[in-house]
Parts: sequence; structure tokens; C-alpha cells
Amino acid sequence: MKQSLEILIDEHRRIEQVLACLEKIIEHCASEGRLDGDAARQAIEFFRDFADRGHHGKEEIQLFPVLETRGLGSPCGPLAVMRREHELGRLYLQGMEGYMAAASGGEADAVQWFVQHGQSYIRLLREHISKEDHCLFTRAEQALTDEDDAQIQEAYARFEAADLGPHARQKCLALADGLAERYGVPRAHASV
Ligand SMILES: [Fe+2]
Ligand SMILES: [Fe+2]
Repeated sequence: MKQSLEILIDEHRRIEQVLACLEKIIEHCASEGRLDGDAARQAIEFFRDFADRGHHGKEEIQLFPVLETRGLGSPCGPLAVMRREHELGRLYLQGMEGYMAAASGGEADAVQWFVQHGQSYIRLLREHISKEDHCLFTRAEQALTDEDDAQIQEAYARFEAADLGPHARQKCLALADGLAERYGVPRAHASV
């Protein structure tokens, strides 16, 4: 597998780690009738900065445009679907953020909405990651040249350093591991 895809696959495992934590946060929220606001804030910060800005940013800004030049960019094709799913994930994330304060205060309606948005987000991202790992990236592996691979990896590095900031990734990974320890979720092991 090309390194530019391996990097994204490795990030999928990190995202799944925090999805498993969010699942526990939601279970507690539903059973206790009150959200643990501190844990929820950390999980949402991870999803906003690492999963959406960082990971989906790499896909949308660096990988997908190159795949479009290699014939994967039809209007109803896989890249259009992946972009729409990223947008839907942003709406669920905004929904969780919007209800977070009231759900932390134990307001019943807010607790229900937080749980609904959270469950939808988890389901969406797990299915989305599965489609990328098993379908899109298999096609991308065949479509990308070695030159494309090198160019995309350089673009990722520039994006991480300039657009996200030099410490953003480490901060997010620390959040992910703190939540995993707190909820007894196994840590993802980096392959790259
Ligand atoms: Fe994606
Ligand atoms: Fe992805």
C-alpha cells in the first residue's frame, strides 16, 4: 500500500479509538441522564481538529484532487459520496457541540439530542471509514503513481506544519490516549 494511503489508514485506527470512547460517553449519558461535559469536550475537540480539520482536510485538499486527475472524480462517484459524508459528519459534530452544555446540566431534551447526534456520528464515521479502507483506497492504490504518492506525502507534511500548526497532531493524540485510558478502550498502534 502506498505511504500516502497508509498514513490515512493509520489515522482511521486513531479515529476508531475515540469513536469507541464516544460510545461509552453516550452510554453513560443515556443511563445517568447527564453528560460528562469534560470527557465530551475532549472527544469533540479530537473529532473537530484531528478527524475533520486534519484527516478529512488531507483527503479533500490533497488526496482527492489527485485521484480526480486519475479518473475517480465522476459527479456520482466515490469521491463525491465521501465529501458528502464529511459534510454530514460536520453537522452531527455541530449538533453534539450545540447540546453539550445543556446535556452536561442534565436537561432531558438536550441529553436525548446529544445521544441521537452522537450515535448518528459514530455510525456514519464507522461506515465511512470502512468504505475508504475496503473500496476507495483499493482503487486509489491502483490509480496513484509513485510520483503522485511522493507529491501527496509532501503536501500532507506542509498542511500539518502550516495549516494545522506544528503541535496540533500531538495534542490530539494525547487527548485520544487520555480518553482511551479513562474508558478502558484499547489504543491504536501506529503502523507508519
Ligand atoms: Fe473520508
Ligand atoms: Fe478517511
